Amino acid sequence: EGQLQLREVSGIPLQASTVDNWSQIQNFEAKPDDLLICTYPKSGTTWIQEIVDMIEQNGDVEKCQRAIIQHRHPFIEWARPPQPSARNAKDCMVSYYHFQRMNQILPDPGTWEEYFETFISGKVGWGSWFDHVKEWWEIKDRYQILFLFYEDIKRDPKYEIQKVMKFMGKNLDETVLDKIVQETSFEKMKENPMTNRSTVPKSILDQSISPFMRKGTVGDWKDHFTVAQNERFDEIYRQKMKGTSIKFLTEL
Ligand code: A3P
Repeated sequence: EGQLQLREVSGIPLQASTVDNWSQIQNFEAKPDDLLICTYPKSGTTWIQEIVDMIEQNGDVEKCQRAIIQHRHPFIEWARPPQPSARNAKDCMVSYYHFQRMNQILPDPGTWEEYFETFISGKVGWGSWFDHVKEWWEIKDRYQILFLFYEDIKRDPKYEIQKVMKFMGKNLDETVLDKIVQETSFEKMKENPMTNRSTVPKSILDQSISPFMRKGTVGDWKDHFTVAQNERFDEIYRQKMKGTSIKFLTEL
């Protein structure tokens, strides 16, 4: 049980394995052409990782399927290596809740009502959604940062993938772009063993409880939030996000 507790580093609750590798994270030095993906959990990390790899490999599917996504894009806390990707807080909360249900090395989320409070208080792995999103949004123009929204990629994948391509200094043909759009669709990635985490042992990710590629939609929160929870959330959101110009779509 003890190992399932999150441990705080500088006030941010983290998974034990992340804390164990903390010195590696702190000593990480980016090289000029490194590309870092900085997502809040459950905001489409895997999705953007696959998009970036597909662009990098010029749409070569075989090359992208050479290894599981975790090896092609190692987590900074687990190996060595900004591109923040944000997802609206409500869908993110829902996705994180189901992820904690199936993830056997993160704390049990409890009931949905309990998790709602945990998420709002920021006492979840990697800290508060509000802080993460606000901080990246504030500094996005000061550095070479491409800020992406899950909802935008969902709405117009080709346009957003093109943005990533330009950011990476690549110029791919229309046909290659179309192929990348297809290959990085939810349906494809859900079936693809190199992206769907099916190779992770059940003792870590129990996909019989909830699949890693769960729904991949915008607006699933409507099937989880009660009317009262929604009103309360909107109020807390207004307080916590006061003064920021960021806008999220919560439905398509
Ligand atoms: P849901 O739980 O809402 O389905 P992360 O990779 O950061 O852990 O994020 C996981 C979330 O992104 C899951 O959301 C997952 O289904 C969704 N996702 C993964 N690949 C996707 C894709 N190609 N298109 C849309 N959503 C995707």
